[in-house]
Amino acid sequence: MTKLSVNINKIATLRNARGGNLPDVVKAAIDCERYGAQGITVHPRPDERHIRYRDARDLKPVVITEFNIEGNPEPRFIDLVLEVKPHQVTLVPDAPDAITSNQGWDTIKYRNHLSDIIAEFHKHGIRTSIFVDPDPRMAEAAALTGTDRVELYTESYAAGYHADRQKAITPFVESARAATAAGLGLNAGHDLNLDNLRYFVQTIPGILEVSIGHALIADALYYGLETTIQLYLRELKPWLPV
Ligand code: PXP
Repeated sequence: MTKLSVNINKIATLRNARGGNLPDVVKAAIDCERYGAQGITVHPRPDERHIRYRDARDLKPVVITEFNIEGNPEPRFIDLVLEVKPHQVTLVPDAPDAITSNQGWDTIKYRNHLSDIIAEFHKHGIRTSIFVDPDPRMAEAAALTGTDRVELYTESYAAGYHADRQKAITPFVESARAATAAGLGLNAGHDLNLDNLRYFVQTIPGILEVSIGHALIADALYYGLETTIQLYLRELKPWLPV
């Protein structure tokens, strides 16, 4: 079954709005796991406007499920990941001033760059995933970097879901096929929510992990964190009808 990794950046954004430690990011991670999350994701950015580098260090000893650190592999990020040694690092080509991740890697153009970074992470036993657009060529080229997985960037799927979900998912089906044929594991994330999640994981079986932040934390305002996580986990059960 697909694992749910909760991206807790928005908890840090709320905390940072006041300058104190409320809500407590470490407590939130522990609680997400208590409520059933199978992973915790953080995305530190150079300006530390959401998750701080210090948070990643503090989270390492308390995360008992899977710890995923995602971000642009600039030198400070690489040093952090090598120090913290999460289970997985997800490489994202986001510009420092981007509001959120807004594109996947061009794995053809950046093949050598990515290969070097991935080799370094592998030396330290850290699994790697590369964030890619839904383009089978990007998945195929990703495999040449030596990465373990790709994360399919699902923004366009989410944006097109209500108009025509079959059309919206087609490039993802093709990319997933290419990635699997090349021997890569599959993750997915961005803008997944309680409406669009089930159709995605049922149409593309074999998604190992989804990482979800914005919609999940927004839903928690209404339903509470425990109920919200249960609702997302229910969507991942493969036997429920779409
Ligand atoms: N995957 C990656 C690589 C991301 O950058 C993000 C957002 O930080 C997500 C998944 C989660 O997206 P969302 O917050 O829309 O659920």
